[in-house]
Order: sequence, then structure tokens, then C-alpha cells
Amino acid sequence: MEEKIPVREQIQLTPFGPEDKSKLVLYLNDPIIYRNTLLIPSPYTEADAEWWIGKTQENFELYGRTYNWAIRHVEHGLIGGTSVFIRTGLEGHLDEIGYWLAEPFRGQGIVTDVVKVLCNWLFEIRPALVRIEAKVHSYNPASARVLEKAGFEREGLLRKATIKNGELIDTILMAKIRPGLE
Ligand SMILES: CC(C)(COP(=O)(O)OP(=O)(O)OC[C@H]1O[C@@H](n2cnc3c(N)ncnc32)[C@H](O)[C@@H]1OP(=O)(O)O)[C@@H](O)C(=O)NCCC(=O)NCCS
Repeated sequence: MEEKIPVREQIQLTPFGPEDKSKLVLYLNDPIIYRNTLLIPSPYTEADAEWWIGKTQENFELYGRTYNWAIRHVEHGLIGGTSVFIRTGLEGHLDEIGYWLAEPFRGQGIVTDVVKVLCNWLFEIRPALVRIEAKVHSYNPASARVLEKAGFEREGLLRKATIKNGELIDTILMAKIRPGLE
């Protein structure tokens, strides 16, 4: 059975597959995505895309379901990605998410909807989960705003918590608590 999470009209989350290679290379060669994230290489090559698609399949086998989701548009195909990091295991009380969206599709509320739907889904399938975190570089207000709109609260500034290209970066810690337990 292929897993699928509906997000809004025309947008859904589904697993990555080998057919996503060329769009990953197209969209992830983006200096903004590189600057705002920690695990996406630059330049982003076909070998990087192949590695990622393989990794998502390995994770599927490890966890028994999809936690690395492609954001798909019915017309445009792959337009982004979002992952759950499985920080404290599948029975853990805490986890963390990350995401990116291809440049042409930004500013339409898509990732806000993705984060809302993903968090609802996670709280539903993982009864022990209480807290979902996201970490944002301090110079990325769009991402902090997405999280705020999706019900996350800003909990603090982790000063010089991240190193990107040898540069120390302040990190905004955002978190969402399971509804009813806030
Ligand atoms: C950050 C990102 C995921 C946002 O996705 P998106 O679908 O465009 O986001 P949305 O349209 O749902 O919401 C963006 C919000 O940020 C706001 N925003 C955009 N640029 C901003 C800026 N420079 N300063 C303040 N707010 C800004 C928008 O106005 C909007 O808020 P609003 O609805 O109150 O007007 C996307 O830009 C992206 O992929 N960026 C590169 C990778 C990245 O940063 N990943 C996250 C790492 S933590």
C-alpha cells in the first residue's frame, strides 16, 4: 500500500522514489536552501539525489513506514520535502522536523499547511509523542513564521549553536506541544 497524506487541494505527501532524481537536482541546487539547512550538500549532484532516495528507502525499512516525505503537486510533481528525524525512537516523547520547498512555489502557504498536517498525523500515529521541535537559523524569518502559523512557539535563541561553513550561527528553537497538554 502506498502511503499518502493529503495536504490541500493539489498537494499531498508521498514517499520519494527513483523518478525524483532530476527534480531533486534541479531544486536543491539553490543557495537559499543550502544556506538555511544543514544536511543538504552544495553543489547538489545526481549522486546526492541517489543517496537520498536510497536513504529514504532504508529509513522506511528501519521504521516500518514513511517519515521522509516528498511534497507533491498533482500538476508539477515533486516540489519539496519534509522529514521527521526520529530523535528519540518511535516510542519517544520528542521529535524534530525539517522541510524545504522549491523556489517557484514559495509564498502560497504550502509549507504552513504541510507542517500542520504532518504534526497532526504524527500526534495521531505516535501516542507517546508530546513535543515536536524545529530549529531555524536566526536569519530565516520565513521559516520561523511558518512554524508560528502552524502552532509552534518560539522557546528561545540558542546562541552560536550551529556551525555552517565554519561560521557560528544563532538558532531559534521552536516547539509544538500535543494539543491538550500545552
Ligand atoms: C521557509 C520555507 C519552507 C517557507 O515555505 P512557504 O511555503 O513559502 O511558506 P508559507 O507561504 O507557508 O509562509 C511563509 C511566511 O513567511 C513570511 N515571510 C517570507 N519571507 C519573510 C521575511 N523575509 N521576513 C518575515 N517573514 C517572511 C511570509 O510572509 C509568510 O507569512 P504570512 O502568511 O504571515 O504572510 C521556504 O521558503 C523554503 O523552503 N526556504 C528554503 C529552505 C528553508 O529555509 N527550510 C527551512 C529550514 S529551517
